[in-house]
Amino acid sequence: MVENQDLYKKAAAEKAVEYVEDGMVLGLGSGTTVYWLLKRLGALVDQGLNIKGIPSSLRTEGWAKEFGIPLTDFSEVEQLDLAIDGADEIDPDFQLTKGGGGSLVREKLVNAHAKQVIIIADQSKMVACLGSFALPVEIVQFAWQRTVDKIEAFGAKSVLRVRDGEVFVSNNGNYILDCAFESIEDPKVLHNELKLLLGVVETGLFIDMTDRVILAGPGGAQVINK
Ligand code: A5P
Repeated sequence: MVENQDLYKKAAAEKAVEYVEDGMVLGLGSGTTVYWLLKRLGALVDQGLNIKGIPSSLRTEGWAKEFGIPLTDFSEVEQLDLAIDGADEIDPDFQLTKGGGGSLVREKLVNAHAKQVIIIADQSKMVACLGSFALPVEIVQFAWQRTVDKIEAFGAKSVLRVRDGEVFVSNNGNYILDCAFESIEDPKVLHNELKLLLGVVETGLFIDMTDRVILAGPGGAQVINK
């Protein structure tokens, strides 16, 4: 099962590479699906493909360096040509839940500054309604307990993210709350309401940011355009 899922992730990532053109500056998303994208891009760079990337997490930065993908940053780049990223859940309107890996703020910034965003995933990520995957919300450390109270007033049960026995700290020095809502009927409204709460840095709801989804399963990789 896990093996198949990895094959699907790889198939989706390799399909996305078909949208990469010579000379492009790319947003490099995060997660295990993006790992396959980076591996493939690295091989193409070896063969002469001229691209640069802005990584959306320290883990992605490490992989990109390992695979020899030239990197740049927002001091040099105004707009990315294309961002390719994974997702934790995708709904039929292409609204997403992201942040399972904890780098949702950088991922959102990278995707927001791209002309085009492609999401790559295995087919299990497509859902009728967001919410089975607990929504990651990045919050400042100070008074985090009080921010939890405010978020839970929206009907979520939240858990402060812990990794290896330590409270998880994001690439930006913040905490992540994983918020279980039974279902997220209106992702846009929930995102806007959570963003207004003092202490909330960003939510893992990526609203109206995706142009194309590439989903892979036993039948291969399928491109779904908006
Ligand atoms: C990282 O913070 C996430 O948003 C990832 O893009 C998302 O969790 C998908 O990851 P996988 O490709 O590992 O499933």
